[in-house]
Amino acid sequence: MKNAKMVIDKDFKISRVDHRIYGSFIEHLGRAVYSGIYQPEHPLADENGFRKDVIELVSDLDVSVIRYPGGNFVSNFFWEDSVGPVENRKPRLELAWRSLEPNTFGLDEFSRWASKVNADTMMAVNLGTRGTKDACNLLEYCNYPSGTKYSNMRIGNGKKEPYNIKLWCLGNEMDGEWQVGQKTMTEYGRLAAETAKAMKLIDPEIELVSCGSSYMEMPTFPQWEATTLELDYDYVDYISLHQYYGNLNNDSSDYLAYSDDMDKFIKSVIAACDFVKAKKRGRKTINLSFDEWNVWFHSKDEEEDITKNHPWQVAPPLLEDHYNFEDALMVGLMLITLLKNADRVKIACLAQLVNVIAPIMTEPDGKAWRQTIYYPFLHASKYGRGIVLQPLVDSPKHTTLEHGEVSDIVSIAVYNEEEESITIFAVNRNIIEDIILDIDIRSMDKFSLKEHIVLHHDNLKAENTAKQEQVYPVKTEVVKVEHGKLEVNLKKASWNVLRFKISK
Ligand code: AHR
Repeated sequence: MKNAKMVIDKDFKISRVDHRIYGSFIEHLGRAVYSGIYQPEHPLADENGFRKDVIELVSDLDVSVIRYPGGNFVSNFFWEDSVGPVENRKPRLELAWRSLEPNTFGLDEFSRWASKVNADTMMAVNLGTRGTKDACNLLEYCNYPSGTKYSNMRIGNGKKEPYNIKLWCLGNEMDGEWQVGQKTMTEYGRLAAETAKAMKLIDPEIELVSCGSSYMEMPTFPQWEATTLELDYDYVDYISLHQYYGNLNNDSSDYLAYSDDMDKFIKSVIAACDFVKAKKRGRKTINLSFDEWNVWFHSKDEEEDITKNHPWQVAPPLLEDHYNFEDALMVGLMLITLLKNADRVKIACLAQLVNVIAPIMTEPDGKAWRQTIYYPFLHASKYGRGIVLQPLVDSPKHTTLEHGEVSDIVSIAVYNEEEESITIFAVNRNIIEDIILDIDIRSMDKFSLKEHIVLHHDNLKAENTAKQEQVYPVKTEVVKVEHGKLEVNLKKASWNVLRFKISK
């Protein structure tokens, strides 16, 4: 049996976890909104038409912030069409996904829903087909107390108090040729700077996210980050990263190695941010908003067929990836990667939340259910709050086709001072062999392993469905701690949550 070693010391700190890294995303796309979070005719709908079964599953995840309304959707979003009396609202052609947007659910409904699930809103403005003026109008509608055109419009729509939305995205994936209103780096940098400047005049307390590259392989990466930040550095607070992975070659070992690429992506964006800071002799550090991350590949053919051959439907079943067990491992690996970079990644959104590349699925005439990827997010959000510790990990390796030699074990530890606990998240991404993990928590004399939660299935391709949940976490036998050390068996291909209680 192979052994890995992990040394933890509570004085070796990376950073406090910003609770906003447990964010997610609701876009007007496919069935995320209509028949996802909102379905007035469903037996479990509340007085607002919100599905209570979905609210329950989302609330359990304790999602801190939810990005809205897109995504690619935002580049042709006319927010005024989505507010006011529903009977006056008109459907519109939605260009990103070639669907019909009925506008029966809009930004006021979203804000009400977000407060039901106890999440803050991260609002995106349209810098594709619109610009500075409309971003300012929207901000005035949301955050200005009263007495102006748009604040009074909000009050007239029944919302007396301002929403006070503190986090705003300056457009979405503006480098992508698929984006309606795509920009060059200079065009975007200038537009983002002017929009940010104006928005901060309206509300100096907001924080703004400049659009980074759509993914690491974009031909303009990382020049895009350097050029756009040189133009908008003075006015923005974060730069966005987006990345999706998939097991396209059906090579599971190689697939699970992609989290190493995610780490490289984060480090490269940090380098670009710091380069601009140095060049400008700046004092401000630009941090990272990883506001789209997940697995996305299972549903690509259906997506192409619907958008190409069956356009202009209301809520077509787009991007409905059915996740399997290895996808859950990948999501766990991505969460660990975000935590490892907690000193610079301050916001992250699992894209998305309901029905669209989502941990939660709904049947229009039936129940809401949990996909495999629901569980690692649940565990990280529940137990991964506090201070991320820098562990020393010495892991055996295995060889992959594209990524070469990679570590078997990927892990991180989070120390929660209030609860006096430490949680270790660890993935054994060796799909052939179990690994023994020797853990040494040397800075604490007395601690005990409270529980060891494991997500494992013998079949990497096992999926959950509305009828049957095959992939779910189980509690495994707890081993005894002796002299501050313990040995834990990490099953081949497994997500592990080890929860320690520290006694004073
Ligand atoms: O999350 C799905 C889509 O992925 C988003 O609309 C877009 O921003 C990204 O390309």
